[in-house]
Amino acid sequence: MKNKRIIIAGGSGFIGHGLSDYFGTDNDIVILTRRPQAARGRVQYIVWDGRTRGDWAAALEGADLLINLTGKSVNCRYNEQNRQAIFNSRTDATSILGAVTQTLKKPPRLWVNAGSATIYRHAEDRPMNEFNGEIADDFSVQVCKRWEATFNGITLPHTRKTILRIGVTLGWQPGGVMHPYLNLVKFGLGGHQGSGRQMFTWVHITDVCRMIDWLYENDTASGVYNCTSPNPIPNRTFMQQLRKTAGHLFGLPAPAPLLRIGATLIGTETELLLKSRWVLPTRALQEGFVFQYPDINTAFSHILAHMPRSAYHLF
Ligand SMILES: NC(=O)c1ccc[n+]([C@@H]2O[C@H](COP(=O)([O-])OP(=O)(O)OC[C@H]3O[C@@H](n4cnc5c(N)ncnc54)[C@H](OP(=O)(O)O)[C@@H]3O)[C@@H](O)[C@H]2O)c1
Repeated sequence: MKNKRIIIAGGSGFIGHGLSDYFGTDNDIVILTRRPQAARGRVQYIVWDGRTRGDWAAALEGADLLINLTGKSVNCRYNEQNRQAIFNSRTDATSILGAVTQTLKKPPRLWVNAGSATIYRHAEDRPMNEFNGEIADDFSVQVCKRWEATFNGITLPHTRKTILRIGVTLGWQPGGVMHPYLNLVKFGLGGHQGSGRQMFTWVHITDVCRMIDWLYENDTASGVYNCTSPNPIPNRTFMQQLRKTAGHLFGLPAPAPLLRIGATLIGTETELLLKSRWVLPTRALQEGFVFQYPDINTAFSHILAHMPRSAYHLF
């Protein structure tokens, strides 16, 4: 995609950073954020509150692509206050973007709303895809369901709409999971977590960007797409391969009871590590999308090449 105007709501975080790197050389990017920042090259920041109409709405007029990533991070304790903020940040932002887009004279050609591959149930028996995936009802699934229902409830006759159910995204950009995983590896704690049998559904940040580019160019694409690599792996293999790529022979595993204590201490939930997410990108593959990083070893090699050695070695 070239010379387009792309709006990224919630684009100041990890995935937004990856999208700005990928699209920002050839396109104009407008990031909607609650925190004002100076422009960087073709990337400009406009302040919004993620809930109500404001001056920011004018930026959407005539834009080519709208991407919405807004949402409070799920990396926190699921107490009542955080649960509400996790729900509301996603549904409020989606609703106000929809209401504003409905009033535009020239609305974007495509709206990509983030969703999550965690919408599918804990699966150790078989992979889930867009056609046969089973959707359970635990907290994180409820978040995804309400988020998607809000998006699906918005009618836009001139804008194609897609939901990306994104897997755990791997990249070198700040805020991503590679940093904490590599810290574990660096300090000799990079063994498997829990039983290590839980499936890890991941995707390389470049393939997230490439899939959005592909959806934009593909006029018939709409609805739900799993944005996950075609080769999910067990947590044990994920950690083994990460240690190997980072040049570490050994890593202590973390059994589930220890993880539960650790998660409480650092203010997060074990679900993020122990849920077995086994998801395949069946629709994208059927419709001709080709992954640049389908395998974990090429993905890790590429990502580590972008990081300083000090990110994964003490010396
Ligand atoms: N990273 C992954 O592996 C992954 C996997 C599946 C799904 N997702 C989903 O994809 C989206 C983007 O992921 P990410 O990793 O880039 O997340 P991120 O780094 O946490 O960025 C999300 C952005 O949302 C905005 N935000 C947070 N709380 C908000 C609130 N209460 N009201 C309005 N805006 C708020 C923040 O922007 P400002 O502070 O600048 O306003 C933040 O930069 C998220 O919704 C996430 O759930 C991510």
